[in-house]
Amino acid sequence: MDAYRAIVTKRDTRHFLPNPVPADILTRILQAGRMAGSSKNTQPVRMVVVQDAERRAQLASCGDYAAHLTAAPVAIAVVLLPGGGPFDAGRAAQNLMVAAWASGITSCPVSMHRQECARTVLGLPPDHTVATVIALGYPDLKHPLSQGRQRLPLDEIVSWEAWGNHRPQGD
Ligand SMILES: Cc1cc2nc3c(=O)[nH]c(=O)nc-3n(C[C@H](O)[C@H](O)[C@H](O)COP(=O)(O)O)c2cc1C
Repeated sequence: MDAYRAIVTKRDTRHFLPNPVPADILTRILQAGRMAGSSKNTQPVRMVVVQDAERRAQLASCGDYAAHLTAAPVAIAVVLLPGGGPFDAGRAAQNLMVAAWASGITSCPVSMHRQECARTVLGLPPDHTVATVIALGYPDLKHPLSQGRQRLPLDEIVSWEAWGNHRPQGD
């Protein structure tokens, strides 16, 4: 799968097979997260890999919409050091999700609404932030990947030269 195809076909899924993610693929996923650029190359992003089922269940209790962390064989917490920006975390998170999908691994970002809970489960220092937790695994294709969710048309979300100058695409 080329990079463009991996990006445009990647959809978030909450239904996983229990099959483990092979160690070599997991390493590639983590490398993709590591290689994301950051503001002034400050590299404020760290990743905590959680495979233990009990710890994943504990993490699931820290978010309001996090139940699928119990079904995904791997969770990767994307952690920001103090002063790190959310854009840096987002770049790393999307990198690793796209790299995963290029190897057939689906994913879904999960918000940790209760940060103190997530910090405790992960053993993080109090000034660290869990930007997101990525649930990862092979997709259970009994459930359609996109579940019918659509994206807005390109000409609706793109302006040319100044805000509001839309023009039809694809002709
Ligand atoms: C910042 C952010 C936080 C999200 N948090 C959650 C979450 O807590 N639980 C969840 O199930 N999905 C979460 N999602 C996934 C979104 O619901 C998903 O990206 C959106 O519905 C589009 O999914 P699709 O690519 O499959 O169409 C989050 C996505 C983003 C970007």
